[in-house]
Amino acid sequence: MAQDIGVIGMAVMGSNLALNMADHGFRVSVYNYTPDLTKQFTAERPHENITPYYDLKGFVDSLEKPRKVMLMIMAGAPVGSMVLQLLDILEPGDIIIDGGNSFFGDTRRRCIQCKEKGVLFFGMGISGGEEGARKGPSIMPGGDASAYEAIRPVYEAIAAKADDGRPCCAYIGENGAGHFVKMVHNGIEYADMQLIAETYLLLKYVGRFTNQEMSEILRSWNQGELKSFLIGAAADILAEHDDVAAGYIIDKIVDKAGQKGTGRWTCMEAMRLGVNVSMIDAACNTRISSNDSGRITARRAMAQPECSRADKEAFAEMVRKSLYTAKIIAYAQGFSLYHTASDAYGWHLNFSDIASVFRAGCIIQADFLNKIAEAFQHNPSLENLMFDEFFLMRINDGTDNLRHTVSAAALGGIPVPAYMSALEYIDIFRSRSVGANLIQGLRDYFGAHTFERVDTGEAVHHDWKRH
Ligand code: 6PG
Repeated sequence: MAQDIGVIGMAVMGSNLALNMADHGFRVSVYNYTPDLTKQFTAERPHENITPYYDLKGFVDSLEKPRKVMLMIMAGAPVGSMVLQLLDILEPGDIIIDGGNSFFGDTRRRCIQCKEKGVLFFGMGISGGEEGARKGPSIMPGGDASAYEAIRPVYEAIAAKADDGRPCCAYIGENGAGHFVKMVHNGIEYADMQLIAETYLLLKYVGRFTNQEMSEILRSWNQGELKSFLIGAAADILAEHDDVAAGYIIDKIVDKAGQKGTGRWTCMEAMRLGVNVSMIDAACNTRISSNDSGRITARRAMAQPECSRADKEAFAEMVRKSLYTAKIIAYAQGFSLYHTASDAYGWHLNFSDIASVFRAGCIIQADFLNKIAEAFQHNPSLENLMFDEFFLMRINDGTDNLRHTVSAAALGGIPVPAYMSALEYIDIFRSRSVGANLIQGLRDYFGAHTFERVDTGEAVHHDWKRH
């Protein structure tokens, strides 16, 4: 009997997704560029619905038409080369689904490349890591709308289910839309993690809480409006004892962060489209600077201010409120990038669906996403999440706390660039002036770039040097 779907790439994500599909009753063909991984996978984790293939033609021939071939291989050149090989074998109407973290610009190009041969290409953002792939990830498919119905049953079945039972999988839009949404999801993930790391620094160096106390604080926050996978994970990490030497594992981890590049892509794309995602920029830059050897020189050469608070409990509560406010801004920035990109690329993104898809399965899953989904459901063209009634009220309530938290950090010399960027973003929007009138004056003074007059709205040049 013909197989329902084929998965290429038997590393961690591919093999777990194949098992997830097989568990849901789909007959899955699997193939890997080198046979060793396929052999190991089928020997160690056999499944009655999974059939291994060791040649690409045999793998493709095993599939029911229109064939559905999912790529779970490394983004970049490997995807490009596999698409070329498949285009020689597949027939018009067949579907290729790229489930890796490919750059959305590559996906846009591949959609056109495949369409020339009548093959349909999907760029599918998948979030959830190994466990998500096996038990239910968050899925963001982008590609030809007419082909979505053919793949929908598989992906809705294997996706994570939110508390209301809805699958965390929704058609995102044409061509690169799915990979774009996943890329910005990762950017938001960077900002979210950076805020939690800064919260840790504030509680540790200003609040003077111990690891165990900080873990308990985060655990209690995880019962309320901040409830999320990442807060729970941070609470677990802070309480974890080292099994190699005495003490906590958090104190044994080198203070340098890695990154694979999707956060950086988000910042570059935001800059290109002219969207302020300062909190994602702050998160990326802090990861970059964490690896800068100049930190050692600076630590020796520069004074470290001290700042501690006697009112520890009140301080922790102020930080909690600030974290919630800053988190709203991180998501407001990410969703305003979605808004601009949707117009620029003609994707007609449904922001409520996007927030709903993030509610389970992925790293940024949080109760908070229900509120975002509601805000965009209420007003699908909401320009900035900050202007939704609920979030505006929360920002107005929380900004003073955020201001005091950022002041405490500044006085104590604690680097909190994401908190600071959140406050700065609020102040830029609400302030009566951002000084752009003087910038325009300077531009016109030096280069006769003209400026717009307040009274007439005209673009004029002023003769600055007439006296
Ligand atoms: C996911 C994650 C996953 C990973 C990113 C970021 O949704 O499953 O986003 O894709 O966390 O690749 O990784 P880096 O922190 O290494 O850039």
